[in-house]
Amino acid sequence: MKFHSIWHCICSTHIELKLVWKEDWFEQLFSLVTTMNTQGDRKAWFLGSSGCDPPRSIHGNPYRLVLLGPPGAGKGTQADLLCHTLGTCHLSTGDLFRAAQCQVEPSPTLKDALAAMRRGELVSDDMVVALVRERTRCLRCQGGFLLDGFPRTSAQAKALDDILTKESLALDAVLSYELPLEEVVARLSGRRTCSNCKAVYHVVARPPRTPETCDQCGGRLMQREDDQPDSIRVRMHAYEASTRPLTEYYARAKKLMPILASGTPEEILESSIRALKDRLQRR
Ligand code: AP5
Repeated sequence: MKFHSIWHCICSTHIELKLVWKEDWFEQLFSLVTTMNTQGDRKAWFLGSSGCDPPRSIHGNPYRLVLLGPPGAGKGTQADLLCHTLGTCHLSTGDLFRAAQCQVEPSPTLKDALAAMRRGELVSDDMVVALVRERTRCLRCQGGFLLDGFPRTSAQAKALDDILTKESLALDAVLSYELPLEEVVARLSGRRTCSNCKAVYHVVARPPRTPETCDQCGGRLMQREDDQPDSIRVRMHAYEASTRPLTEYYARAKKLMPILASGTPEEILESSIRALKDRLQRR
């Protein structure tokens, strides 16, 4: 078993245990494992409260951003590129739930959440907000943050506002990636994810060098369970009903920056950075 897999499973076990019990010995095991991990930037996000050695923002002022957009618009792909460019941390609630999937005996609450995710439905606001609140430390990070997949409902957006207000922090901008439905479906149905290190590919747009094999670690590429046609339909419906109203919420707050998500990932990154610079210069 490779280190990534061990890390992934221990992280998820920890998330589960943090939700159910609060055992100190797990923190100790974690500090041991985290000293071995070279990618320290998302440690605290997966761990909950412990361990992180955040980078200082490479631009002086840390960016605090939210990414919105339908499933498959390329939020995760852009988040990785933006984090490399801006020096922020990529905080994804979807990643937290996927990491929890290798739990051997999940609690009934987590079991319900994972079943909802597989069907393409949203996990309950209470559970998601509790997970984020437990990770408030990541929002205080001196390198800034980039939230991907949270908030997803108006209740979650209000909860995020409350958390940030208590921490005397403010969002810089909300990047909203827009993509026509047929392109969304093409991206989701062609997505493949490494079963080991979770790197994301696309059979046409970002194929691996060797079919079905991860370029980075040699792991086997898999299709996400919620990328099946039935789940895609449910996810699009959940997006239209719950997440789209958030664009209005953030437009009212004058934080919204719509970005066209067609083109190559690098072109979309360029548009995002240009729009961010324009906006922040006007502050
Ligand atoms: P989450 O993981 O957040 O999924 P999502 O929002 O559905 O978004 P995806 O990860 O599917 O897509 P993406 O926009 O990141 O696209 P990607 O970059 O991978 O959430 C999953 C589930 O968890 C939810 O359904 C819910 O159950 C639960 N959940 C999570 N957060 C929650 C919350 N806050 N509240 C309640 N429930 C919550 O790209 C897609 C594909 O396109 C890839 O193959 C990629 O290689 C390719 N691609 C990317 N960019 C381009 C491009 N420019 N050109 C061509 N191909 C591209």
